[in-house]
Amino acid sequence: MQPKVKAAVLASGSGSNLQAILDELHGDPEIPLEVVLVLSDVNSAYALTRAAAAGVPTQVVRPRDHATREEFDREVAAVLDQHGADLVILAGFMRVFRAEFVRRYAGRIVNIHPALLPSFPGAHGIRDAFDYGVKVTGVTVHFVDEGVDTGPVIAQCAVAVDPDESLASLEAKIHAVEHEIYPETIRAVAEGRVTVAGRDVRVLGRRS
Ligand code: GRF
Repeated sequence: MQPKVKAAVLASGSGSNLQAILDELHGDPEIPLEVVLVLSDVNSAYALTRAAAAGVPTQVVRPRDHATREEFDREVAAVLDQHGADLVILAGFMRVFRAEFVRRYAGRIVNIHPALLPSFPGAHGIRDAFDYGVKVTGVTVHFVDEGVDTGPVIAQCAVAVDPDESLASLEAKIHAVEHEIYPETIRAVAEGRVTVAGRDVRVLGRRS
């Protein structure tokens, strides 16, 4: 059997995407991935509670305990190394890593963004798209590069904005799609079915 990819999930908030990853991928002998660590920058992140409930080790690294962003990044990398993580999954992690960190994990960090990039990058993708009045928005899974929400796109899924849509109903629709597309895409990465050549990312087959 294929050796398991050791994944660290980084989350700052509720962790509903973490939960989808744990439910769909973790602990399944058929799937070559295990979540070895959940790391947060916030003590109170509910993601930590979800991880503990699943028996996954947790660690908090707080920016305020580090003099510079580079020191914070180095501490995160040291914790990832301690747990042997070889795939970094950002799931609502509200920090931007500096170039050195991103280069170290090149091709091994993924992120999910709740809009169709390159539209509506940043921390409020759902609300920004809603306020703009778009008829279609969606979800993007991408590799992380040195920019903010600029890395090569692995998967996207469109979500219609209905005429009487409220921001809350759009958020619910986006999150439901996220919880499908993120585990499915991470599984493809773990199974070695994702190839990258510059910005040309291909996902081979459906399942191994
Ligand atoms: C998600 O909408 C994700 O796309 C964005 O942050 C949110 C995290 O939600 N990057 P959760 O903590 O996974 O519930």
